[in-house]
Amino acid sequence: MTAPEPNISPTILVADDWRDYRLLDSGNGRKLEQVGPYRFDRPEPQALWTPRDTGAWAKADAIFAASGDGEDDAGRWRFNRSLPETWPLEWNGLKFLSRPTPFRHLAVFPEHSVHWRYAADAIGTVQRPQPAEVLNLFGYTGLASLACARASAKITHVDASKKAIGFARENQAAAGLADAPIRWIADDAHTFVKREIRRGRRYDGIILDPPKFGRGPNGETWRLEENLSALLTDCAALLGEQRPGRFLILTVYAVRLSFIALAQAATSASELQGGAWEFGEMALPHAGDSRLLPTAIFARWRS
Ligand SMILES: C[S@@+](CC[C@H](N)C(=O)[O-])C[C@H]1O[C@@H](n2cnc3c(N)ncnc32)[C@H](O)[C@@H]1O
Repeated sequence: MTAPEPNISPTILVADDWRDYRLLDSGNGRKLEQVGPYRFDRPEPQALWTPRDTGAWAKADAIFAASGDGEDDAGRWRFNRSLPETWPLEWNGLKFLSRPTPFRHLAVFPEHSVHWRYAADAIGTVQRPQPAEVLNLFGYTGLASLACARASAKITHVDASKKAIGFARENQAAAGLADAPIRWIADDAHTFVKREIRRGRRYDGIILDPPKFGRGPNGETWRLEENLSALLTDCAALLGEQRPGRFLILTVYAVRLSFIALAQAATSASELQGGAWEFGEMALPHAGDSRLLPTAIFARWRS
């Protein structure tokens, strides 16, 4: 017997809409990026190839040296010049702050711009009696929250870390969106979702970018492989009954998972019917050549 044809073909979403961010080169397990006025050389496990522009790497302002095998985020920055604590960046008119963090990243995940556009579009193309309500789980820098707020949605932003929420609030101020209706909530993502279901709340859009492993503020444990399916089921319940303009955006950086696994988790756990699913990989383009740097896998849906 032939197996049924799976209806899953990949889309590659390329974040090619940045002016203040450029991927200059990658290779030998590292990437070289221009982030505003500064240049960074960081570990990149996906960069299995040989770098192209060997001269450019010597001009890095900061280099992150991973400790251990590079699979976790531990390590430290070495600065070749003094950098401010933060500096301003802009994406499509949205202003925010970048900074070097002890976790090797720069407080912006530029590949996500493809989803900020998608969310803003889903919010803006439907006439609604009330503003769209968007829930951003594991929201960290708040850039997705701010992109949706700018598109006139009401936002509930959840992250376990008070420090992360502090960064997101600084971004809110930098964006000039201080008066935007954003609830900043320090809580465990799934605990919060269950509470919202009990309260009978409904959302028009849900964005989630869960880590492989994390902890809620009260020691709740998050393990992607064990907990994702139940969280997706509950997110589908929060999106509720048939209404136009609903959306769900799920991204995952766990390198051992295929987009097919994510697609099947998302479609089997959720009741999201009648709309359009897309699955695949997110990638960053290189500034000077046609290579792509794969970054994360995603599943997204729009009613
Ligand atoms: C991969 S980052 C998300 C980045 C985000 N997409 C952005 O663009 O800024 C994961 C975030 O999840 C948070 N986190 C980890 N475990 C959590 C939990 N159990 N509940 C809520 N947030 C959690 C971390 O504090 C971290 O900010």
